[in-house]
Amino acid sequence: MLVVSGIGAIVWLFTRPGINTVGQVTFDRQLAVPPLAASTVKDGQRVFDLRSQAGQSDLGRGGRTGTWGYNGALLGPTLRATRGERVVVNITNGLGEDTTVHWHGMHLPARMDGGPHQPIRPGATFSPQWRIDQPAATLWYHPHPHESTERQVYRGLAGMFLIDDPATDVKSLPHEYGVDDVPVIVQDKEFDGDGQFDENGRFGSDIGILGDTLLVNGTPNPYLEVTTELVRLRLLNGSTSRLFNFALSDGRPFTLVGTDGGLLDRPYQVTHLPLSMGERAEVLVAMRPGERVVLRSDPPMPDGDFAERRFHGGGDRFDVLELRAAGTLRPSAEVPATLVDTPRLDPATAAEKRSMTFTSRKINDRKMAHDRVDAVITRDTTEVWTVRNGHSTPHSFHIHDVQFQVLGRTDGGPVPPQLSGWKDTVFLPPHEGYTVIMRFTDFADPSTPYMFHCHVLRHEDEGMMGQFVVVEPGGKPALGAHHDHTG
Ligand code: C2O
Ligand code: CU
Ligand code: CU
Repeated sequence: MLVVSGIGAIVWLFTRPGINTVGQVTFDRQLAVPPLAASTVKDGQRVFDLRSQAGQSDLGRGGRTGTWGYNGALLGPTLRATRGERVVVNITNGLGEDTTVHWHGMHLPARMDGGPHQPIRPGATFSPQWRIDQPAATLWYHPHPHESTERQVYRGLAGMFLIDDPATDVKSLPHEYGVDDVPVIVQDKEFDGDGQFDENGRFGSDIGILGDTLLVNGTPNPYLEVTTELVRLRLLNGSTSRLFNFALSDGRPFTLVGTDGGLLDRPYQVTHLPLSMGERAEVLVAMRPGERVVLRSDPPMPDGDFAERRFHGGGDRFDVLELRAAGTLRPSAEVPATLVDTPRLDPATAAEKRSMTFTSRKINDRKMAHDRVDAVITRDTTEVWTVRNGHSTPHSFHIHDVQFQVLGRTDGGPVPPQLSGWKDTVFLPPHEGYTVIMRFTDFADPSTPYMFHCHVLRHEDEGMMGQFVVVEPGGKPALGAHHDHTG
């Protein structure tokens, strides 16, 4: 193993043979856009139906790759609901094993959260229901079953959940779904010689599966025909282990307008956008008539740790999606100078401070245990957590139920624009971390825990996860009741 540091490391990484373009492709397939999920409104409730199932997909490898999806062979439809609405999702498990559906980024009661405590047995139906109450945002859903999350997500179970909110939708941003407002779910896959997903991956047990081929919305080698001057891409890193660092092929800047939990205070011009597993970002790309530009993933900018690049494939460059502008483009409204006004949470109001250190599949030296509560949080209080990577393997921090704000980096460095707004997931480079602040409102339930964990799904499956419960003032956790949805 080479020991390198500082400038030497950077030069070595960018000149290392074979590090260059892994996923260089000929863009020959039109990008699939996940359909908007059909819904009906019954008794004032918006009703969706999802069925997790196995199928086969044509991914350019002989046409019959075994994949999993919701209401189809691969991925799932985009659910969309408006703040204030009550929703119910009837989820039927059409697989031969337990699954769950978790609403990543959603503020909702723990019993509806779809974590490992809400398994859906084969053939059973679970119908979580809740009231949407958070700003407009790009959320997503994916399975979260005990010890099988990586495999189920890797096989294709994932979809987007868009929230609209009259108060925080900025109408002058592109918002015609599938036309100038497009979901972009980026996932890496490894294929075996028979054109099937290779679940053994390249780095085996340490980091999970890293593939050399990208799918975007399940499409290999995709292009998107752009018909407007400005296109809004809702990026989701839906990979199980791989980091991306998005950029445009000619280095031009693009506009970051939103992150995990919604729109930012204002637009930010960026040339690179790092996105770790489970994170989302909304960006606007300005196009000129007739041109082609490629969204790609570059090796990380030289401020990360070298281990991050090596272990998460971050040293690889991938072509992701070609944007093809039509000869004439429909005019887009100008991007407003300000977006949404988000109050900053005040650390002086914190009722509790906690520290979570991530090392070798453990958080604070403990592996996830179903019957242990790691944090008891009082309803309607604010907490400050320091989340830190205590060793040299990259991790990330994700928490259910709430969105947090980043107060600062543990090394004192600056907080970049992509961490300036509401977040539910943040990458933890080796030996680094963040101080975050969040407010826990509404859903006290002493007997049902929410999760926080590393979103490297292999790590999560292997126990790098903790549980918290929200209780009424003075309340105590009361785990034990196992909520078993056997339909
Ligand atoms: Cu995206 Cu606990 O999950
Ligand atoms: Cu989540
Ligand atoms: Cu991890």
